Amino acid sequence: MNLIPLGSGGAAQRVDPLRRAAPGDQARPATRAEGPLPQRTAMASGPAGPRASPSREILLPSAEVPMAGSLARAHAEARTALTQVEVLFEKAAHGEPLPLALAEATVSGLLASLEGDEACLPSIVRLKAHRDYACMHSVAVCVLMACLAREMRLDEKQRREAALAGLLHDIGKAFLPAHVFAKPGRLTEDEFAVVRRHPELGFDALEATAGLSTGVRSVARHHHERPDGRGYPDRLDGPRISLLARMGAVCDVYDAVTSNRPYKDGWDPVAAMRAMATWTQDGQFDACVMQAFKRLMGDHPIGSLVRLRSERLGVVNASAGGASRRGQPSPLSVTAFYCLRTGQPMPPEIVEIRPGASAEAIVSAESNATWRFRRLDELWAGDVAAGLHPVHTPFGGLPLKSPRPASQLLA
Ligand SMILES: [Fe+2]
Repeated sequence: MNLIPLGSGGAAQRVDPLRRAAPGDQARPATRAEGPLPQRTAMASGPAGPRASPSREILLPSAEVPMAGSLARAHAEARTALTQVEVLFEKAAHGEPLPLALAEATVSGLLASLEGDEACLPSIVRLKAHRDYACMHSVAVCVLMACLAREMRLDEKQRREAALAGLLHDIGKAFLPAHVFAKPGRLTEDEFAVVRRHPELGFDALEATAGLSTGVRSVARHHHERPDGRGYPDRLDGPRISLLARMGAVCDVYDAVTSNRPYKDGWDPVAAMRAMATWTQDGQFDACVMQAFKRLMGDHPIGSLVRLRSERLGVVNASAGGASRRGQPSPLSVTAFYCLRTGQPMPPEIVEIRPGASAEAIVSAESNATWRFRRLDELWAGDVAAGLHPVHTPFGGLPLKSPRPASQLLA
């Protein structure tokens, strides 16, 4: 088994994602930036709790993890969508009319990839780590909006509208000066003021595009509004913010805080959901929309770190979430990779968990801010390019093969 040293980064090099946000991230209300840090959120940790310390390196097994065919297809669809969104942003930046047909085709492709398998959602969302952030964020919010609309039982037409709104919500960023739009580090006050203009710029561009609904335009303009009236640009409050815009606010922030960026690690999903619950109480998000989003994500969102009954740590790679609630039980799939008894990494193994019907179970959620496993995403997302297929094994199943060179994981 190859072991991947985490290097000397550790806590000292971790950047608080709330303190050094991306251009888009910084365009958020100040209260979020002043909110509690998920890293400090208490999570369950039993006798065999984290053995990491800020000065100790954590080792991860190096292995390619198989990916379900549906996830691979979703990745392929996301790549296509990304290319299409790049065209949308480029045309907008050059002042050309927005090709609505292209945007609608992008939405159609993404919706088709989601049909019957909501597990595709996170793979699409996380793919952005490999490509242009702004465009992939648009794709991610599109997908999240589509799933949230389904969770909220909106009809098919509304769901498509929500997805299109998510895809175009940040189109106004195409009009920002390149040195601000692409700046990887902290923005100055002046730059921040420029970024905060993107909702209006996007709205104006969509106003000039025939065939778009009021709802889609409202998301572009109002996804940074807050129910407590402290958002921007119009400081709307409560029901004066459209339902789609309130949904857009939740999806936008969730994707932003869970995203890996060159200068920060994304939060793990559980930490993100906990922080967003607090921000909802502070008045940042619509409580009903947030409730639906929480149902959508489930207790153990895909990508979250969990402790298993078998005294192993694993990453959730397919979530029962909403599907289970609708009477279509799907097993929770976890990639186990760390043995708590030995305190050592182990070859990754996919474990299927059927509540009440399998020997294995999730005991608790764990915070990766405590464990500090690096590149955890690759343990559940796998390497799509390898075209691997899943090896579903029961508890205690075969370890996965194909060790991956350390240099690839550390790149
Ligand atoms: Fe935005």
